[in-house]
Amino acid sequence: MRRIAVFASGSGSNFQSIQESIKDGRLRAEIALLVCDRPDAYVVKRASKEGIPVFAFVPSRFESKAAFEREIVTLLKERQIDLLVLAGYMRLIGDTLLQAYPNKIVNIHPSLLPAFPGKDAVGQAIAAGVRVTGVTIHFVDEGMDTGPIIDQASVRIHPDDSREMVQRSIQGLEHMLYPEVLAKLLH
Ligand code: GRF
Repeated sequence: MRRIAVFASGSGSNFQSIQESIKDGRLRAEIALLVCDRPDAYVVKRASKEGIPVFAFVPSRFESKAAFEREIVTLLKERQIDLLVLAGYMRLIGDTLLQAYPNKIVNIHPSLLPAFPGKDAVGQAIAAGVRVTGVTIHFVDEGMDTGPIIDQASVRIHPDDSREMVQRSIQGLEHMLYPEVLAKLLH
């Protein structure tokens, strides 16, 4: 059984959809650790409910990114993690993690990269007036949403769609696509 660590900072709806896909047998893997940089994030509650071990930390209590990433690497090695799955982790991955897990870190981003990297990708797409946006899953490198693309899927934006409607379609797509792509990567 392949062992993954999910990294998240917020609500964790993607964490939940990955866990559901494991429970119903679509994804043969185990979430062996949740890494969260905001101890009060809702994703921590979701993990606890599922009995998944959590490493929740406050970045400002460490002297540097390298310092907390060293601690994370120790935990990942102890738990024999095969793949690091970023799902709404709002922090750039540093050299310590990148060097410890080359080509073993993936991320999901709510746009068709390379369009609209960084924060508020849905807002950026609406402001740009594009009629098609979507979801990208990619390998993580040192840049912001720049690593090699693994898969993408698109959604249409209609002229009178509200931001909430676009957000909802994108999230629905994320919840389908991430478990599917992970299943292929881990098989
Ligand atoms: C998702 O839209 C993901 O693409 C982005 O952050 C959001 C996380 O949402 N990187 P959730 O915490 O999984 O609900």
